Amino acid sequence: MTDLFDLVRGCTFDDFLFSPRYSVLERRDPAAIDLSSRLSQRLTLKRPLVSANMDTVTRAEMAIAIAEEGGIGIIDRGFRSGDIEPQVREVEKVKRRQHGVIVNPYTIGPGATLRNAAETMRRTGIGTLVVIDGDATVLGLLTARDLRFVDPHGPTTVAERMTPRDRLVVSDGPVDLSAAETVMRTHKIKKLPLLDNRGRLAGLITAKDLLKQRQLPFATRDDHGRLRVGAAIGAKGDYLERASELLRAGADVIVIDIAHGHSVVMGRAIDTFRKQFGDTELIAGNVATADGTRFLLERGVNGIKVGIGPGGGCTTRLNTNFGVPQVQALVECRAATGGRVPLIADGGIKRDGAIAQALLFGGDTVMLGSALAGTSETPGETVQKPVVVAESHKTVKVPFKVFRGMASLQAIVDRLDVEDAESADVEALGAEGMEISVPARGSVRPVLRDMLKHLVSAISYGGARSLAEMQQMFADDPMRFVIRLTESSRRESFDR
Ligand code: XMP
Repeated sequence: MTDLFDLVRGCTFDDFLFSPRYSVLERRDPAAIDLSSRLSQRLTLKRPLVSANMDTVTRAEMAIAIAEEGGIGIIDRGFRSGDIEPQVREVEKVKRRQHGVIVNPYTIGPGATLRNAAETMRRTGIGTLVVIDGDATVLGLLTARDLRFVDPHGPTTVAERMTPRDRLVVSDGPVDLSAAETVMRTHKIKKLPLLDNRGRLAGLITAKDLLKQRQLPFATRDDHGRLRVGAAIGAKGDYLERASELLRAGADVIVIDIAHGHSVVMGRAIDTFRKQFGDTELIAGNVATADGTRFLLERGVNGIKVGIGPGGGCTTRLNTNFGVPQVQALVECRAATGGRVPLIADGGIKRDGAIAQALLFGGDTVMLGSALAGTSETPGETVQKPVVVAESHKTVKVPFKVFRGMASLQAIVDRLDVEDAESADVEALGAEGMEISVPARGSVRPVLRDMLKHLVSAISYGGARSLAEMQQMFADDPMRFVIRLTESSRRESFDR
């Protein structure tokens, strides 16, 4: 181990290659290879990918896509004027997206107007409302179809247009998903409301969700079949209230995310969080040293985020000269955990090969920011920018999206109250990030799938059958894998 410590000191991803070993994989299909890994002590992902809590990377759309592909998204807290509610709404969108059982379906009263119902459907993007009375007794079901071709002089209330309870097939008492599927197939129905023994609404199962469950066998789901999602909070100000709201909305893990997690502020925040929320799954960061890791471990976190300054949108090292090269950080933090708490390797992944490196040098999962930037699931507008084509000198319009560090001036100003933002002393804000334009490049799903294919290829080159096996082989004898590059071998490897 001492050899490895010495070898990686001052080094990062582009300083190493791995030596290929006898390959035992006959199929290089990500669906056939176990890529599972722990995000935190109690949460395991089938694929070790996490989208970064940055306001140009992860909102509901990204979190849904990455969870459906087997990873998880962490919703950032950087919403305009620092409100809690918009972040909560993003968590809710993910939790409602795909379900086994929708435990909390959207409802409406029988006396509501059809216009009202249409407005609820439009706002929520959900086309089925369960009609209930004041004590949640199910009276019927109203779908988007019931609102089509409504006679303007005809019925105006939900009760007049819904499918009433006596014409619905419902399920009384607990039901598992395969039993529900049988009922739905037998009765050729697409929605199955679940009632408790007093006829009150207990949930809803839809055919679309059941189908989706089957099509996405790797998706990261909770016990109700809902997609999992994480959410970030800070370590000061409204962080406890924010955590409480996010957990109420169904967040599966809270990430206390501050630039320097080995700090008095973080220590206090974890202690208070534990007092208020007990053993709720908690990840904290960022740290990049053995001391920082032990500090978080001793405070009982369930996962640790590693990385000070490697991020693509980050200028911490430029501005402060502090930070640890990411491979050194991963090796040292890994040794400090002794495997007790999983590590997220956060930042600096610019090519797919670095994912395999991050996962061998110490990460259990990797957190990705710039590697996902510009995809259609990232938040923000796509803008057309004129670009001069080198060969023809013609100007063409190319679509771009913005990617920025969360400590960039633009991101900080956006988080302030509108009034504060106008009067902010920009010089005093102390930015440690930057904003760049990146080409828009379509859906993130093929990007994620390519990463997984490349990870499987890496496992094959590494002589293992699964990610866990390759990590174990590396841990047993890292020096058999690691080749330190010279300037010229680095050029030969990565300059393309
Ligand atoms: P990549 O390289 O994947 O890194 O873009 C994503 C990670 O970068 C960190 N991050 C920042 N670090 N100033 C920093 O020092 C910033 O403004 C900033 N914004 C993001 C963060 O850890 C993220 O997950």
